[in-house]
Amino acid sequence: MTDQKVVTPYGDQEKAKKEQVEDMFDAIAPTYDRLNRVLSFNIDKGWRKRTIKLMKEDGLDKRVLDIATGTADLAIASASAGYSQVTGLDLSEQMLAFGRQKVEKRGLNPNIKLVKGDSEALPYDEDAFDIITCAFGARNFGNLNAGLKEMHRVLSQKGQVLILEFSKPKNKFFKALYYFYFFRVLPFIGKLFSGDSRAYTYLPESVDAFPSGTAFADEMKKAGFKTVKCHPQTFGICTIYQARK
Ligand SMILES: C[S@@+](CC[C@H](N)C(=O)[O-])C[C@H]1O[C@@H](n2cnc3c(N)ncnc32)[C@H](O)[C@@H]1O
Repeated sequence: MTDQKVVTPYGDQEKAKKEQVEDMFDAIAPTYDRLNRVLSFNIDKGWRKRTIKLMKEDGLDKRVLDIATGTADLAIASASAGYSQVTGLDLSEQMLAFGRQKVEKRGLNPNIKLVKGDSEALPYDEDAFDIITCAFGARNFGNLNAGLKEMHRVLSQKGQVLILEFSKPKNKFFKALYYFYFFRVLPFIGKLFSGDSRAYTYLPESVDAFPSGTAFADEMKKAGFKTVKCHPQTFGICTIYQARK
């Protein structure tokens, strides 16, 4: 990732990317879920479902860690699919607060624990989890390699990591249409409803600067993962990366 451009939420030279990311998600937490559904035309739900399907290849009796859990959508989807030991970890206390309300409302308190923490310094021992998921979080890490190495460290020998992240569509015609929406329409709607003028311009800019497809798989291999499979979703707008030790 050394030649990658570092895109930060507010372009503030005085503050590290990680602090800016925390500030940004604290600020947009109240509108985050609703905007997600609107801006993705609800497609994001399908991507999470497919991630759960891949998790299930390993059976249900597993310890699950959802990194960058945000408002806990993927943690809730995992618990609803039958996983009973799910931990969700995130930097943003405000995102977690909305997540806690959702977990409580669904009666999933016995199955999901939500923890404030940093993915680049996980508060867990080696081999603590059998399945690690991370949806739209990796792009926001201050140091991608450090975050991926931490996933590798806390994963059990036979476990798997599933990272869901935006990627770049390969079809030129579709990419042109999609980029028009992503760079022009989405930031306008995002600003209108979230009140944050940067969050939804940071989104396409950070995706454009982030490794996609095999380039991201290479980053996972650099962090120690032996096998990485790419599962592109919806013309490659997003990819599920499935990795093992
Ligand atoms: C785009 S949201 C995704 C939330 C959720 N996974 C989802 O799919 O809706 C990204 C989340 O990553 C979290 N995040 C970013 N960097 C992090 C880090 N270093 N450690 C923990 N969480 C982090 C942010 O606070 C934010 O809640």
